[in-house]
Amino acid sequence: MALDFGSLFGKKNPPLIGLDISSSGVKLVELSEVGKNELRLECFASEPLPRGAVVDGNIENIDQVSDAVLRVWKKSGTRAKVAAMGMPPASVITKKIILPSNLSEEGLELQVETEASQYIPFALDEVRLDFDVIGLVDNSPDDVEVMLAATRKEKVEDRVAVAEAAGLKPTIMDIESYAARAAISRLTEQMPNRAKGQILALFQIGSQVMHVSMLLDDQLIYEREQPFGGHQLTQEIVRTYGLSYEEAEVKKRNNDLPDGYQTEILEPFLETAAQEVTRAIQFFFTSTPYTRVDQLFLAGGCAIIPGMVDTVANRTKLSASVVSPFKGMQLSSNVREKQLRIEAPAYLVACGLAMRRFDR
Ligand SMILES: Nc1ncnc2c1ncn2[C@@H]1O[C@H](COP(=O)(O)OP(=O)(O)OP(=O)(O)O)[C@@H](O)[C@H]1O
Ligand SMILES: [Mg+2]
Repeated sequence: MALDFGSLFGKKNPPLIGLDISSSGVKLVELSEVGKNELRLECFASEPLPRGAVVDGNIENIDQVSDAVLRVWKKSGTRAKVAAMGMPPASVITKKIILPSNLSEEGLELQVETEASQYIPFALDEVRLDFDVIGLVDNSPDDVEVMLAATRKEKVEDRVAVAEAAGLKPTIMDIESYAARAAISRLTEQMPNRAKGQILALFQIGSQVMHVSMLLDDQLIYEREQPFGGHQLTQEIVRTYGLSYEEAEVKKRNNDLPDGYQTEILEPFLETAAQEVTRAIQFFFTSTPYTRVDQLFLAGGCAIIPGMVDTVANRTKLSASVVSPFKGMQLSSNVREKQLRIEAPAYLVACGLAMRRFDR
């Protein structure tokens, strides 16, 4: 008798899409489970956003963003309407606290609110508060470690409004950096010895910001954001060739620019990027007890640029690779493999959000 994986795995985890909204555009990913720990990429798609629609992770124009969400949903071919979304890490305050392990659910909630008011610089009624019990504290069985997450209500509400206006049902609000980490953990599990004891530096270079995180044994040991990204390169193209921003963006992605672009614009940009990475690593060393990085991963749209990973590897003298978040997954027949190979590094967060479907 054949096993019906559909009913074993499918129903328990109803379809969910990961929806990543950031300054350059909206990205969607849907995953399914086809066996134990075996995932399949059902579909992925992205749609650009007009400039100014999302700035610093804030949704400035709900209509423009929800239009893009609706377009990306249609384009992807998914039928799932339930969505996991992410908040930009800068808009969320997280804090680990220790509480007695014998509290009831309500007791825990109350205690969390009391503790939270000490750490959160705005009135609690303006705040969406969430918490997660991480587990017992080592050597102290009477205590549990609890992770608090707080964000301004209006920021969550804007994202919910965008999804609902596009006909979607947002049920999970994650933090973008947590989603990225979940997607990375799936990859480190496939590495020799699960990369145990190694310090992994993840650089997500997007349009406006470069997000730096350092990971050790699946734990985030350091996190920082720097204003740097592909926007700067597009601006330079606009200035040099007198193109509109949108034209420059398209020509940049298609590598459709005059002779001279490579040496006069692209290479200096890659050098600057490598310098930013080097400086961020130095800063990690000076502001933490850590003194080494074992491997470097690049993700985000700028990781796709030809020459980026080599320039970064040369400058930092580290082993560097481009993250491919769907590595080891089966691919649905709808997935265009060539496009996937090129664009995958930009889908790290969307992939991590889509993985929330399998939380148990
Ligand atoms: N094929 C490509 N070649 C060159 N640049 C690319 C390519 N694909 C994407 N980019 C650049 O990557 C950037 C977008 O990356 P990503 O999608 O990770 O950003 P984002 O998450 O929207 O931005 P941010 O995190 O800053 O809000 C843009 O500047 C875009 O021009
Ligand atoms: Mg981003």
